[in-house]
Amino acid sequence: MSATSLRLWARRVLSPLCLALALAAPAAAAADVERGRYLVEALTACDNCHTPRGPDGYVREKRFSGGPQTFNGPNYSVRGPNISSDAASGIGVWSDDAVKAAIVAGIGPDGRLAPAMPSEYYRILTMRDLEAVVAYLREAAPVASARPEQRRDGEPRAETFPGAEAPFEEKALDDPLRRGFYVATLARCMECHSGETNGALDHREKLGAGGKLFRTPAGTAVGANITQHPTAGIGVWSDEEIKAAITKGVGRDGRPLKPTMANLSKAHFAKMTPQDLDALILWLRTIPPRGGP
Ligand code: HEC
Ligand code: HEC
Repeated sequence: MSATSLRLWARRVLSPLCLALALAAPAAAAADVERGRYLVEALTACDNCHTPRGPDGYVREKRFSGGPQTFNGPNYSVRGPNISSDAASGIGVWSDDAVKAAIVAGIGPDGRLAPAMPSEYYRILTMRDLEAVVAYLREAAPVASARPEQRRDGEPRAETFPGAEAPFEEKALDDPLRRGFYVATLARCMECHSGETNGALDHREKLGAGGKLFRTPAGTAVGANITQHPTAGIGVWSDEEIKAAITKGVGRDGRPLKPTMANLSKAHFAKMTPQDLDALILWLRTIPPRGGP
């Protein structure tokens, strides 16, 4: 190649290529952040345990600086710590890999996190969605806060939600039923709606059967039976009635559901896309009827 044709080649091929790359990189990153925002706001509800609350719900200007509730288990007492980008009290200086390990493997800087951090429902995140959640967290403003005193000693991990042992492949989300399972898992529906055996959640024998007790400052609530049982569960509810419970926090009779559910509905599940909501309903319809007289 002569010097002139080389220059010409560089101008024709290389510069559009560089331009395309330069344009593509930020665009891809922006898409990741948007997807991350959707996952966090509509499904994974990280705020529920990592953002302070006031009378009007989450305190947005202190977003991700630590949650209000203390989670007590046999061998632990922990609070949702600061996951904002603050360098000293948050995760600002953590590597992406360290953040990912906390989210999907429940591993923190000093070893195992207490199972109050629900990694067993997040392990299913596709590689791309996990990147997106991290990208979105990185966008959050740094907010300083005191590090909570965490106490934990060797609590065994909670059982991984059956079917969520490994990250989903992106193409699994094209299948509505698999997508519905993905949505239900990330939204942790069964962490509150499965029944318990010997004090532990029993997703295999009591998937969606209800009965788990919640004690909150607003009073007690019992996880409802959301199996397809016609009377004990939601088998005869219409899709619209189930959607109203999920996204508006109202029961079949129009009464407001208790805050354990209603807060999640209003702050998070209301933001689900119609595609995800339809997929979720489709999957809920496959839950075998359990409970009742
Ligand atoms: C049901 C409550 C709950 C939800 C929902 C939750 N977390 Fe956590 N998370 C915790 C608790 C509690 C801890 C502290 C556990 C410990 O220290 O043993 C924690 C720890 C972490 C840590 C480690 C931070 C540190 O300083 O050790 C990260 C990172 C994290 N969570 C990110 C997330 C993200 C991202 C989401 C949403 C995708 C999320 N969490 C959803 C309760 C929750
Ligand atoms: C933090 C716990 C929690 C999570 C997570 C949760 N729920 Fe609930 N849900 C409850 C409780 C508790 C009730 C009962 C509220 C009441 O008695 O007013 C309830 C009520 C319901 C109802 C109404 C049932 C009835 O008989 O009135 C439906 C339907 C429902 N939830 C579906 C879901 C779905 C689907 C998801 C996941 C997208 C989900 N819930 C996530 C705790 C939870």
